[in-house]
Amino acid sequence: MNSESEIIILGGGIIGLSLAVELKLRGADVTVLSRNFQEAATRVAAGMIAPQAERIPPSPMLDLCLRSRDLYPEWTRKLESITGRETGYWQCGILAPAYEANGLDTAPCTSNLPARWLDYQAIRELQPGLGADVVGGWWYPYDAQVDNRRCLAKTSIMAAQELGVNLLEGVEVTEILQEKAQITGLQTNQGIIRGSHYILATGAWSGQLLSLPVSPKKGQMLSVKVPDSYQELPLRQVLYGVDTYIVPRRDGLIIIGATSENVGFTPEITPAGIQQLLANAIRLLPMLKDFPIEEFWWGYRPATPDELPILGTSPLENLTLATGHYRNGILLAPITAKLIADLVLAQEADPLLAYFHWERF
Ligand code: GLY
Repeated sequence: MNSESEIIILGGGIIGLSLAVELKLRGADVTVLSRNFQEAATRVAAGMIAPQAERIPPSPMLDLCLRSRDLYPEWTRKLESITGRETGYWQCGILAPAYEANGLDTAPCTSNLPARWLDYQAIRELQPGLGADVVGGWWYPYDAQVDNRRCLAKTSIMAAQELGVNLLEGVEVTEILQEKAQITGLQTNQGIIRGSHYILATGAWSGQLLSLPVSPKKGQMLSVKVPDSYQELPLRQVLYGVDTYIVPRRDGLIIIGATSENVGFTPEITPAGIQQLLANAIRLLPMLKDFPIEEFWWGYRPATPDELPILGTSPLENLTLATGHYRNGILLAPITAKLIADLVLAQEADPLLAYFHWERF
């Protein structure tokens, strides 16, 4: 545990785990510290891989997101071959129905990427059953999804285990011990833990350990199930509407998300949150009103003031930052793992990292 060559990753969400796998595959000794694997935003998200549907404007962030989306097929195949388990990656495309006559409410932010406007008739051919006031919509064929909640989260843990990453659950880091510009150890509920390099990937909780502007943005979600009376799936692509998204899994589960609330770490589901989710989703796809509800849950997105992640070096020489992924943690896991592993192990800083450095705040 106290080997001086060890890299210690703080945080067992998808960012910490994807990094652990990447670093281990490149030969590093890696330990992951997690208070509770279940509380990471990884298990809360809907699993959309949606740089276009999220309407990220042309920017280094869009470049980062597109690079990560491109890595997804190979990255998920790799996790699947290490573990023999599925990740639930599905290149299903995302349809963004619009209510405004000109479609501006869901229009693409860039004309350089494949996207197609479907008019009133065409959108109903692709997706029967849309609400009467949907006037058309944008089709993003390269956006995708992964079953983060039931597959990817567990598969990532198992991949790390399979490779020999030291996974320590139930460990809460209470203080980062520092001397000059170095971390000398981590004070935890289980004593002091030391390594030679540290990576902070604690998502919404990052601001509790270091003075970083990362705060929780709560999201409430729910799932419904396609009734057995349906012969085939009524929804085969993600619907990304105004203030709502509806994500169908291949086995008939449908995820509905999500609220976006500035209420700090306030747990639980609220009637107002669920009312908003249901009203928006039923407006978009009225058939949902009769589907049995499976589950409700909530979680915390790691938000930064400019909604961009914090990646790269830190004020401490032996600490690297990989946090603040806000709405895009699932999407950005593969590229974060690659760029941060390049930086930590080979001191290679991809030019994109400069845009996500903590010093911009
Ligand atoms: N990525 C969707 C969300 O954060 O709600």
